Amino acid sequence: MAFKAPPGTYDLLPEQAYAFNSIRQIAFDLFERYGYQPIETPTFEHLEVFTHGIGDATDVVGKEMYLALSQRGLSAVLAGDVPPRTSEMLALRPEQTAGVARALVQHNLLPPGAATVKFVYAGAMFRHERPQKGRYREFRQIGAECLGAAEPSADAEVIVMLMRFFSALGIPRERMRLLLNSMGDDVCRPAYRAQVRDYILAHADVLCADCVRRADTNPLRAFDCKSESCQAVMADAPRITDVLCADCRGHYDAVLAYLDAAGIAYEEDPRLVRGLDYYTRTVFEVQAIQGLGAQNALGGGGRYDRLIEVFGGKPTPGLGFAVGFERILLALQALEEEKAAGGECEGGGAVFALPRVRIFLATVDDQARQAAFELALDLRDAGIPVEMDHQGRSLKSQFRLADKIQAAFVGILGPDELADKTIRLRDMATREEALVALENLVERLVP
Ligand code: HAM
Repeated sequence: MAFKAPPGTYDLLPEQAYAFNSIRQIAFDLFERYGYQPIETPTFEHLEVFTHGIGDATDVVGKEMYLALSQRGLSAVLAGDVPPRTSEMLALRPEQTAGVARALVQHNLLPPGAATVKFVYAGAMFRHERPQKGRYREFRQIGAECLGAAEPSADAEVIVMLMRFFSALGIPRERMRLLLNSMGDDVCRPAYRAQVRDYILAHADVLCADCVRRADTNPLRAFDCKSESCQAVMADAPRITDVLCADCRGHYDAVLAYLDAAGIAYEEDPRLVRGLDYYTRTVFEVQAIQGLGAQNALGGGGRYDRLIEVFGGKPTPGLGFAVGFERILLALQALEEEKAAGGECEGGGAVFALPRVRIFLATVDDQARQAAFELALDLRDAGIPVEMDHQGRSLKSQFRLADKIQAAFVGILGPDELADKTIRLRDMATREEALVALENLVERLVP
């Protein structure tokens, strides 16, 4: 059997792994300026963290979650022993907001009277979706959560930070759409849900079976249905922004005013409902306008003022977002391809530029290789990326190798150079050669 990565997963080969690290670093550096601190939570949690936190009736929890059972647990189930208790069931995280909220309560990270706490994270998430371009079963998110602030300026700050992040990555603003909506709160949403439910039932003959089935449990999901006929019907459904209570209306308008003041362009989309149940009030999504196909959401998020209570914490407002690393990569790759084809687009990805070896040490015999080994250590200690031949290749094939790995310089060491404490340095771009004293080598190599 030829082993391959499972469907919907993939290996991050060096270029992608490097891009992930670079994008993660750009996010962490930028978010730090907004007061975000790194956090890591487990890749798997008790199932209930997700069923309670994200909601049973969401696709993410109800259909797409990977459950994890230990071998011992599985053997017991197969042997017909006790069915596992829910508290013993584990699940791979489909997202990290629920885990962060659980951690906040578990470690009492926001005692009463404390300042806002802000977290940034990056890692793999798991959802059993049908794999396609930009949609994977294991994918990576970079996310930010801000806890403790109920005010609309906090919403605007988070959204501005997200947009600054995309511009730091070089994704041109005109290639993205920022959609905004309010999901209301406990005061206005129940009545709105009932309105949408009634609307769905009144159009049950033209809506798909899934939308009708969810009319009672999760009617707002019908706004996200991919079926064209459902989309046409839902276009005329009641709009939440028409029925927001005064507090939610005021909050939403204030968020928009802050964004206007910050010069952030947005589109209001009353049909933006997002796929997770914890949202209250502001929700947002950034979509790529081209290059991503159907999976065009680069990132999204919103406010979740009731989530902390779900985990037994005191009522604590919160909000955040997550971006999809793979989608960002696709957007950056599309820009690179356009540029390579002579397109005039701005921006793009320095994130792909794998660091190159600065100098390849080529040696003519065993004695020179011994000297090169020591020289390589010294150069690396001085901060210079070095590679050398270990296998005793011919000088010609060492040069070929240096070319292949795009070394900026080749340093040739032979008996004469060893005797004189020099190295013959060839600049691989200009093909010029010079004899350099070893004591001056670091200085010559520093870019
Ligand atoms: P989400 O919209 O489910 O939100 O996911 C955020 C982003 O993750 C999406 O916009 C997309 O870029 C990426 N993504 C989602 N599913 C996949 C997939 N199967 N393959 C590749 N990329 C994917 C959340 O997860 C919330 N936790 C965001 C949040 C944080 N809300 C508040 N705080």
